[in-house]
Amino acid sequence: MKSIPDISSAQHKANPHPLYARLRAEAPVVRILFGDGKPAWLVTRHADVASALKDPRLGKDPFRALTARERAAQTPWTPSFLRPLTKNMLDQDPPDHTRLRALVHQVFTPRRVEDLRGRIVTITEGLVARARARGAIDLLEELALPLPIRVIGELLGIPEADWPRFRAWTNRMVGLRTSLDMVRAAPSLYMLMRYLRALVGKRRRTGGDDLIAALVRAEEEGSRLNEDELLAMVLLLVAAGHETTVNLIASGTLALLDDPESLDRMRREPGLVKPAVEELLRFTSPVDLATERYTTEDVAFGEHVIPRGQRVFPVLGSANHDEQVFASPGRLALDREPNRHLGFGNGAHYCLGAPLARLEAQIAFPAIVRDLPGLRLAVPRASLTWRPSTVLRGLTRLPVTCAAAPIYSVPRAPRPAAAGLQP
Ligand code: HEM
Repeated sequence: MKSIPDISSAQHKANPHPLYARLRAEAPVVRILFGDGKPAWLVTRHADVASALKDPRLGKDPFRALTARERAAQTPWTPSFLRPLTKNMLDQDPPDHTRLRALVHQVFTPRRVEDLRGRIVTITEGLVARARARGAIDLLEELALPLPIRVIGELLGIPEADWPRFRAWTNRMVGLRTSLDMVRAAPSLYMLMRYLRALVGKRRRTGGDDLIAALVRAEEEGSRLNEDELLAMVLLLVAAGHETTVNLIASGTLALLDDPESLDRMRREPGLVKPAVEELLRFTSPVDLATERYTTEDVAFGEHVIPRGQRVFPVLGSANHDEQVFASPGRLALDREPNRHLGFGNGAHYCLGAPLARLEAQIAFPAIVRDLPGLRLAVPRASLTWRPSTVLRGLTRLPVTCAAAPIYSVPRAPRPAAAGLQP
């Protein structure tokens, strides 16, 4: 293949599938250069992506897998005050990864997630009702984003007043692609680290029943989690908890708007919600590329060999559209079953928040299609733009309109009996 366009550009994210189909057919394991000239390998077939994600020869920690020289050549520069962030479990291998994952599992239990159901319904209904009352919203900014931010904020115990600041800082963090991006984002990231240290310090003094307090207790009881690891864990949960789900909800809604038959089916058949959410995960692939791995020895995928010491990205968005596994992958089939998508990854780093993300989506999509009648795009389809990003795929905005609610059905603050019109 002659040349491969910048896969973290907004243009590529707008429609990555023609390129991915060509790569799967002609160059399923291929070396590319990123915008800052740093090399990496892409793996694009479903079978290879699934096995790469489980292969212990593809390590996560560049400090173990690469020599100092290889690191300098391949990974973006990181300021020293950000070192603690690299201690997050997504960038660790066993035994550290196993230890950290077990600790967070201990406090981030299915029970804790299920307990959130009622809150997620209330938050979603409030956001949807507000959208309906207005009749026109940016569905990304005003619904897809606040929902996961509020949920993860409540779960972790981050005060509501701080959510907008948090969003601005973490936004800078996940957008990082090059060393120059890192320099530009340094002030925001510095503020974020300072804020997190203060928050953890407060929980240490006052305790509580949120997730940060539970992690602080785990740190103090067992001394199996040091302060840097604790900060990194909180930050990973915050970033992973909302930078991804927002894209599932917004891109998923766009996919339904693009396909009115599916939108209508989703309205008519609420029982379809579980397979429908899996299909929207496959179709939109909010995490387009899994995070980078490093080869600790030569690794072969069929006849293609990636030498030792190389940076590798398994491309989930491509695996999820591999025609060898999915019939008509470009078609949205809400009842597709089985659906072996890799939207949440695979192997040891399989998404820890998958049950929470699924629950949020299984509540959000039915509410959107049911309670926003006449939902349609408010701008020409071609004017929608996508965020530049290496690993994520998400829209910058999603302006929509719907039939505005009749004035008497807009939820109001409670009033004395018999006051005002109620349906
Ligand atoms: C639609 C929403 C989501 C998608 C598509 C998604 C996708 C993923 C993927 C693909 C990975 C693996 C990355 C890799 O192997 O390089 C991952 C890991 C992770 N996700 Fe999610 N995620 C979502 C929501 C969440 C939520 C809501 C949380 C937490 C509250 C979360 C927490 C995590 C964590 C902590 C990891 C790292 C696990 C580890 O290293 O063992 N994610 N996610």
